[in-house]
Amino acid sequence: MDMRTVIYPGSFDPLTNGHLDVIKRATKLFDRVIVAVAESSSKKPFFTLAERKRMLAGVVKDIPNVTATSFPGLLVDFAAKKKACAIIRGLRVVSDFEFEFQMALMNRRLKERIETVFMMPRGKYIYLSSSLVKEVARLGGEVSTFVPDSVERALRKKLRAKRR
Ligand code: PNS
Repeated sequence: MDMRTVIYPGSFDPLTNGHLDVIKRATKLFDRVIVAVAESSSKKPFFTLAERKRMLAGVVKDIPNVTATSFPGLLVDFAAKKKACAIIRGLRVVSDFEFEFQMALMNRRLKERIETVFMMPRGKYIYLSSSLVKEVARLGGEVSTFVPDSVERALRKKLRAKRR
């Protein structure tokens, strides 16, 4: 039987418990989940690519069949290279939908055979986003319930380094 591989792409700047929830859900549907940081993002990241990749790898290391990596260029080209049949995207609120729908259809135009699968995280993570987590952390708020411990430590360390 063919291995079903899925790509879960994103900026992961940083990974939140919402992302982690989607990763765990994806492992129930696919044989192999590749969590992949986009190298060619228009956003200016807070964490470097190497830091984001390292954080991801640390968090997923004990989840069977999940690996962390990054990819240059187009997501669909990376998905094809990895022989993935689908791309996972998390959907939280209706306002996510418009852009996600556009991206999914563009990706389909670019590579017809790769499907986009939307997954909803657990309700308690609906309001979570990497940008809000960064803002709360930057302003001295508690983020320990929003991100894995290792990510919280990395956030504190990075904020200390940026303040110097
Ligand atoms: O976590 P994000 O920032 O919402 O993720 C967006 C991401 C990385 C999935 C998207 O920007 C992307 O796929 N970038 C790779 C370049 C690409 O393929 N762009 C065309 C998308 S239709």
